[in-house]
Amino acid sequence: MAAAIKTQSPGRINIIGEHTDYNDGFVLPAAIDKATVVHLKKNGTSSECSMIALNIGEVVYFDLNNFKPLESGWQNYMMGVVHELQKIGAKLTGFDCEFGGNVPIGSGMSSSASLECSFAFALNELFELGFDKWQLIKAAQMAEHNFVGIKCGIMDQFASMMGKKDHVMLLDCRSLAFEYFPFDLGDYQLLLLNTNVSHSLADSAYNNRRAECEAGVKILQKEYPNIKSLRDVTLDQLTAHKSSMPLTTFKRCYHVVAENQRVLDATEAMKNKDHQLLGELVYQSHFSLQNNYEVSCTELDFLVQLTLDKDYILGSRMMGGGFGGCTISIIKKEMVGIFKQHAVKAYKTRFDKDLTPYTVSIEDGAKVI
Ligand code: GLA
Repeated sequence: MAAAIKTQSPGRINIIGEHTDYNDGFVLPAAIDKATVVHLKKNGTSSECSMIALNIGEVVYFDLNNFKPLESGWQNYMMGVVHELQKIGAKLTGFDCEFGGNVPIGSGMSSSASLECSFAFALNELFELGFDKWQLIKAAQMAEHNFVGIKCGIMDQFASMMGKKDHVMLLDCRSLAFEYFPFDLGDYQLLLLNTNVSHSLADSAYNNRRAECEAGVKILQKEYPNIKSLRDVTLDQLTAHKSSMPLTTFKRCYHVVAENQRVLDATEAMKNKDHQLLGELVYQSHFSLQNNYEVSCTELDFLVQLTLDKDYILGSRMMGGGFGGCTISIIKKEMVGIFKQHAVKAYKTRFDKDLTPYTVSIEDGAKVI
């Protein structure tokens, strides 16, 4: 039995399908070439553990038999994973763990899921726990619910664990059925622009949006008792009952129902190599996140706006939970350099802040290295 193990699990991008996962909907993410590496070894004790965050040089000690969520901090992601794995029967003994990585924090690229998944994967391997990837994905998601306090969907942990090189994944978040599609944009490629802002609203607003969607479902259930989530609602049904709910609730539901359809349409467009249509859907997604779901921010809107008159950019939108992080754009390969320069300069002038562009490649999910 190995006494030590090294694993990595990546961050993710999402082509389209934002805030649909916790509504039983569809998402189209992919794992990227930025990851969290976890180095885990048994230390011979029955329950004493140490964790070192190499990027910030912080150490935390805890005991497997006695720990609870802290007010905040990265420790919660990891202790949360331990807790969730213990809940489903993991027998662990003391360990020392070091981790570090290059997924930018607060960028909407899911640095947290990448840490949770890499750590869950490492524990599973080192302690021969025998869980399958779905059990690890769900444990990582629940860690975030129960220890971090964000009632996230399953997209990020799924993408980090299941990613496949050069493929995007269409995931049905209800059945958890998924399909890999080769990702090839021809003369175009993806470009991420990190606003380097992460507005403090993010966590509370996230749970809020989830609650608003659930409230919408409750109202609609009065008319359509078979509805279990917004996944089951059509735009016609929703608009027919616009006046039975607060306008804000309607707008949240409208986003989710329309976005689900956009994911399916975008997948078709991708299969047909209709990059123009894919781009249009990506723009629609942004404007809906901005105006209906209201999870964008000035910096993100500015960057999307900047692309609108560029005929070499097919689509652009905020990515991830929102209130900061990155935009993702579909841009003609030969124009990437010029646009990056332009965007960095314009962003600096407007916000007096640095913009960080990333060109990402699509890579495999969690693995032992
Ligand atoms: C965050 C959550 C995901 C998902 C996105 C929005 O990344 O962790 O589950 O809800 O926001 O699409």
